[in-house]
Amino acid sequence: MTKPNAFISASVYTSHVPAIGVAIDLGNTEQAYWQALFKGYEPSKQWMKENKPDVVFLVYNDHATAFSLEMIPTFAIGCAEEFKSADEGWGPRPVPVVKGHPELAAHIAQSVIQQDFDLTIVNKMDVDHGLTVPLSLMCGEPDAWPCAVIPFAVNVVQYPAPSGRRCFELGKAIRKAIESYDRPLNVQIWGTGGMSHQLQGARAGLINKEFDNAFLDRLIADPDGLATMPHIDYVREAGSEGIELVMWLIARGAMADVAGGATPKLVHRFYHVPASNTAVGHLILENK
Ligand code: DHB
Ligand code: FE
Repeated sequence: MTKPNAFISASVYTSHVPAIGVAIDLGNTEQAYWQALFKGYEPSKQWMKENKPDVVFLVYNDHATAFSLEMIPTFAIGCAEEFKSADEGWGPRPVPVVKGHPELAAHIAQSVIQQDFDLTIVNKMDVDHGLTVPLSLMCGEPDAWPCAVIPFAVNVVQYPAPSGRRCFELGKAIRKAIESYDRPLNVQIWGTGGMSHQLQGARAGLINKEFDNAFLDRLIADPDGLATMPHIDYVREAGSEGIELVMWLIARGAMADVAGGATPKLVHRFYHVPASNTAVGHLILENK
């Protein structure tokens, strides 16, 4: 009898605003400014408890924390046993250490590189708010994170960033890699960052609700079409940091329908402005 392989049960999409982490860590989530934001993640925390995966494959971006301007991998996969919370200038966030899954990570690296994507193998790395804030939003404040996490860092900080199309194609390769792992692990894939925001220059503070909501609509119903959107449209419409949204296409490309399977079930959709300088968007899609 052949044993079942690993599978992708769901994908999660969420912004990663650092001030959200600060609000959680200082116990400010009930403040008037934050209440509506955290209320939008209550169903997500409940869903996460009821649908606990073995592993989260967490697509995020490092903000010149682990990778300085001296070395900038476009795609980097964390293959270590564990990843510490990074000190981004005011001490590390007081969150649990992130436990990796070196065996599955090495398998994904092997498979995805053989599918012609160049990944950088990372055996030691601290993880910044790009990774820890999504974990906090989805899991709350546990003593230990409820599952293993494979950090997958994408360069969207220093130009040139990868195109949406390439990210979408990479997601397809990651799905194949996960489904060829010969242990029955329940894996979720998360795409994080965004939505519209610009932190610098003349348009600092830019938010584009129309663009963001159209992006959510298309990510759900027309990911293939959305993946053709050129880089310049992200920057024009969603601001210079809105380019973080290409990472959502990696997670979406790994869903079953993209490979001819069933349409995913929309479990939760949430959008909120403002959170610091950023529009916050969030989706949960389940494979059926
Ligand atoms: C903010 C948002 C980000 O995505 C980030 O990485 C840093 C700051 C903000 O809105 O303040
Ligand atoms: Fe960011």
